[in-house]
Amino acid sequence: MARCSVCGAPAVAYIRYQRRYLCREHYLEFVEEKVRRAMEKYRMVGKGYRVLVALSGGKDSAALLGALASLREKLGYELVAIHIDLGIYEYSVRSREAAERLAEKLGVPLIVVPLKEVLGATIPELAKLSGRPPCSVCGMVKRYVTNAAAVELEADALALGHNADDLAVYNLKSFLNQDLEAISKLGPKTESVPGVAVGRIRPLYTVYEKESFLYAYLKGLPFVHEDCPFVENQQMERQLKEVVNRLEEERPGTKVQLVTKLALRIRDYPRPRGEIRRCKACGLIASGDLCALDRLTLRIFGEPRGPRIREWIRERARELGLIPRRAAPAPAS
Ligand code: FES
Ligand code: ZN
Repeated sequence: MARCSVCGAPAVAYIRYQRRYLCREHYLEFVEEKVRRAMEKYRMVGKGYRVLVALSGGKDSAALLGALASLREKLGYELVAIHIDLGIYEYSVRSREAAERLAEKLGVPLIVVPLKEVLGATIPELAKLSGRPPCSVCGMVKRYVTNAAAVELEADALALGHNADDLAVYNLKSFLNQDLEAISKLGPKTESVPGVAVGRIRPLYTVYEKESFLYAYLKGLPFVHEDCPFVENQQMERQLKEVVNRLEEERPGTKVQLVTKLALRIRDYPRPRGEIRRCKACGLIASGDLCALDRLTLRIFGEPRGPRIREWIRERARELGLIPRRAAPAPAS
């Protein structure tokens, strides 16, 4: 039986690109150390920060919240989580349940936003009403709701569970489409725009998908095992994933190299052009008079529903005693 390269206990994992075996305890430590180093290197958090974590109910956000909860005392930040109940049939029922159990287990306050109740429609319904693919509407709604919550909570950062595999694929896809502005947003951290948008951080930046799964599993964190039923529509992502996996197989470390090199050059990529505006309906970041969510809801419901979402989140945050917020953050150093 293989033994842990650190302590000699029975091994549970082999880290191929480092050629070493690790037992459960040292494996968890290894992943947390990766997360800590990425957060420090890219200055993602500072003492006193409030970090809002987007919880989908899947393995990556479970690993993200698990690692951030383990490091919170050492790094001195506060955690709050948000889950959006997308209304995607049984998948959403199970995801919500997992997110609720996870937040409870880790002692993190959770805000759940049930779309049907708050916005008036689920993702499949919104897709039908708008004539857009479900994943595209869903991406826009998630970006809106998580940002709205981060602004309402006066969070200093919004943490996303993207792992190195996801980011390698998004990068290649954006490169193939020559969407260089999209690449400029795929780094480990984006900046906040005061009052309208909270900067995003990706603490799992250098963590592989397999590592995040094994971490969540070994730590006993609740998560849903199945993918969203609409994931099948994303054929290009699937093909690129196969290509990247083949490269990784032949040259271990490729995915992490790709994202860390990107982080070094991220400022060279063009940022979205056009001035940053405030949505006339909800006051959050927009590229025109209205933000994307308010444009869509105005078209299909006859009224912009961003303000309703903001109000709903504000009430939940008040009930949980999260606002008004007390401690002010110290700048990241
Ligand atoms: Fe959004 Fe699948 S999770 S469409
Ligand atoms: Zn708006």
